[in-house]
Amino acid sequence: MINPENRKGLLAMSVKVIVGTQFGDEGKGKAIDFLSADADLVVRFQGGDNAGHTVINPHGVFKLHLIPCGIFRENCTCLIGSGTVVNPDVLIGEMQKLTSAGVSVQHLRVDKRAQLIMPYHIALDECMERAQGIGTTKRGIGWAYATKSLRKNLRAGDLLKPECWQEKIKDFLPLVNAQLRFFGGAEIQENSLLLQLRQWADALSPYICDGFSLIHDYISADKRILFEGQLGTMKDIDLGIYPFVTSSNPIAAYAAVSGGFPASKIDSVCGVVKAFSSTVGAGPFPTEITENAEMLRGSGENPDDEFGATTGRARRVGWLDLPMIRFSHAVNGLGELILTKLDKLDGLKTIRLCTGYTLDGEALSGMPGTDELYRVHPVYEDFPGWQSDTTTCTTYSDLPENAKRYVECIEAQVGVPVRYIGNGPARENMISR
Ligand code: GDP
Ligand code: IMO
Ligand code: MG
Repeated sequence: MINPENRKGLLAMSVKVIVGTQFGDEGKGKAIDFLSADADLVVRFQGGDNAGHTVINPHGVFKLHLIPCGIFRENCTCLIGSGTVVNPDVLIGEMQKLTSAGVSVQHLRVDKRAQLIMPYHIALDECMERAQGIGTTKRGIGWAYATKSLRKNLRAGDLLKPECWQEKIKDFLPLVNAQLRFFGGAEIQENSLLLQLRQWADALSPYICDGFSLIHDYISADKRILFEGQLGTMKDIDLGIYPFVTSSNPIAAYAAVSGGFPASKIDSVCGVVKAFSSTVGAGPFPTEITENAEMLRGSGENPDDEFGATTGRARRVGWLDLPMIRFSHAVNGLGELILTKLDKLDGLKTIRLCTGYTLDGEALSGMPGTDELYRVHPVYEDFPGWQSDTTTCTTYSDLPENAKRYVECIEAQVGVPVRYIGNGPARENMISR
């Protein structure tokens, strides 16, 4: 049973982590844009420009790849944290786009520890995808994290020290070029890289800071901090559907690991759940539907249809998978849920909800490994649809009875209260409970 008293407490808590509970693209961008009204600091804590976080608000329609979605709130500092991998060209482009839309980026900061994605990371990602792909976004994410682990990366703070670039690049390039030659890719020239570094340093130096101190100062002052997760739990490199995963940890604990503060300082973890499932790239997807998938995907004409915000690929879609959300709860310790895209189910006569899996005829209690996940059979509960427009509802009680039944079944089966319900793509389309 959900204790209504829990709801009140969560509002007052100051360090909150927002995570995707599925395969990514749950609507984290919209959630952060909405919740940042009450935040002093928003931190993107992992990933890179593989993210496409859609925000639709009075400033316009934005697909943010690196900049935290709190950027529209001028009183809210936005930090690209130490756990991220940053392509400076993409960051500079995103800053320019926001500025030309009238959105200030003066309150943006980049942690000096953030890793830099170099052109060769992207080239290697493209080469490897061609050779043996899992469907990455080809943004160089995996290679940037790989060379981070090899301790052969430049970090944002290095942009402040031109005297060390040449030495480091000289050290990195032989291995990089050997790898590129192996894949038949074009080799990287030292001079062009040094020129690029100069331009990046000019554009980004004023924004580079010590993220560790910034986060600690805000925690000590009891300010309100939101940590913005990228992707979803099932794409976590350790706990997700390896190898069809990203190369970082999109789960709540990594906010503390990368931010350098005790995990016990996290007051609340909020899981974003899409009212159905979607994914891009290869891998198991037990509740996938392949026939008539447009009923969930849409045609691509609307900004909230299921097409990749970063790559434009048609997303694979399926029914909501509760074993996955329960797994996500076990991993992240979810205190509340934001259920997005409920309105996308408005026209359906019947809505299927996966409440469990069977494998070889036996009911499963937990989340099996990747190989078994290909073979599980979803157990469905069928709900009668509400077949009416929910986008005009402003309170929970406005929702049709069948929609409320769907919401309440989700929270009962996961054991976590649904605190917000998304009933449209824009900032104002959020029902609080
Ligand atoms: P993210 O990566 O988790 O930020 O999610 P994306 O932005 O990649 O994908 C979510 C999509 O759903 C975007 O097109 C959003 O505009 C849209 N969206 C988010 N919440 C809602 C909602 O409650 N209703 C509708 N119709 N669209 C939503
Ligand atoms: P947001 O933040 C959906 C997927 C890719 C691929 C796998 C690894 O918008 O939820 P990578 O480029 O990270 O090495 O690719 O992860 N992927 C995403 N899928 N939304 C994203 O981000 C994604 N970022 C990566 O499709 O399967
Ligand atoms: Mg996305």
